[in-house]
Amino acid sequence: MTEDLRIGVVGCGYWGSKHVRVLSSISDVDVALIDQDAGRRAQLTESYTVFATVPKLEDVADSLDAVIIATPPTTHYPVAKMALDAGLHVLVEKPMTTDIDDAVHLNRLADERGLCLMVGHTFEYNPAVWSLADTIRTPEFGRVRYINSARLNLGLYQQDTDVLWDLAPHDISIINRILDSRPTSVSAWGLKLMGDKSDVAYLSLRYGDIDVNASIHVSWLDPLKVRRTTVVGENCMAVYDDVSDERLRVFDKGVDKSTAETSPGHPLHYRNGNIVSPYIDFQEPLMLELNAFVRAIRTGERPAADGSSGLDVVATLCAADASQRIGGGWVDVPHPSITASATNGDSSLRLVEVAK
Ligand SMILES: NC(=O)c1ccc[n+]([C@@H]2O[C@H](COP(=O)([O-])OP(=O)(O)OC[C@H]3O[C@@H](n4cnc5c(N)ncnc54)[C@H](O)[C@@H]3O)[C@@H](O)[C@H]2O)c1
Repeated sequence: MTEDLRIGVVGCGYWGSKHVRVLSSISDVDVALIDQDAGRRAQLTESYTVFATVPKLEDVADSLDAVIIATPPTTHYPVAKMALDAGLHVLVEKPMTTDIDDAVHLNRLADERGLCLMVGHTFEYNPAVWSLADTIRTPEFGRVRYINSARLNLGLYQQDTDVLWDLAPHDISIINRILDSRPTSVSAWGLKLMGDKSDVAYLSLRYGDIDVNASIHVSWLDPLKVRRTTVVGENCMAVYDDVSDERLRVFDKGVDKSTAETSPGHPLHYRNGNIVSPYIDFQEPLMLELNAFVRAIRTGERPAADGSSGLDVVATLCAADASQRIGGGWVDVPHPSITASATNGDSSLRLVEVAK
């Protein structure tokens, strides 16, 4: 019989309370609540059985195997560092940190100590995203040419991040996962409409290694809730819509490229074929994510959304910030080494010569 894992949830607010709900349903896991706000802890103890409820991680670290960190983004690094220093496995919410060097440091600490470092890229555990990835890898779909992703809603304005750092981690992690790649350069611009932080932002990503372009639109200021990723392939197109009953639709649609090439100047021919919505055995992504965390702790198996996946997203967002500072110019995404023995993780941001 395996011993129960003792997992503390640091930050029991909107998202942390969902972690508590799901963790409480996993057998062989005991939960501790850690939040500086006693009221939030008290509310959760009415619904769930926990073995400890404390304001600070230090108060219970000695009795834990692991933590889930669901505090505001600027606190992720100090809390995660404290947890790794205390020998705990860590699942830290997105964005993993708000600085590249901090993300590199957490990866190296986890590597040195043989601990699991996972990031809360929940959509990497969404069966519809897996189905999208499988679809676009088929020969029938053809080479991926372009991806467009939109994540819009009215609210929830965040205190310590802008909309790019709040919402775009989801889109970037989805696109990285389905392409099995990471951006090489980015260009970004944001609008500050309601306050001193961007609440609407646009991001262009270049995946130079595989010659694919992607664009992302995120907004806290839109009348409609939109969570949609469109992939345009050489032969087909696919739309993943997380708020639709048909989460994935594959369109046998496109432009007949051969006519465009053989008869320049002639009207393009469009293909309009079937639209298929594949069956998806949907399970709650947070449950799949937390099961993967528990499995990683018990077996040493590296989770899909590991620390390096978190670093890729943080590096992309830091490059996007640098791009905004220079008016939307293209900036290389740094990919510093994360192995504990590496001494020269180059995390500097460089402006890219834009091809005219
Ligand atoms: N993966 C997802 O789909 C998803 C969805 C929503 C939010 N999130 C992430 O979850 C995190 C939390 O977001 P939220 O909306 O739940 O915020 P929230 O403000 O509702 O909750 C944060 C909680 O953390 C507590 N807290 C802050 N600093 C603390 C500390 N040092 N020690 C103990 N408690 C502390 C606060 O008292 C509060 O209860 C963010 O990083 C956010 O990006 C992820």
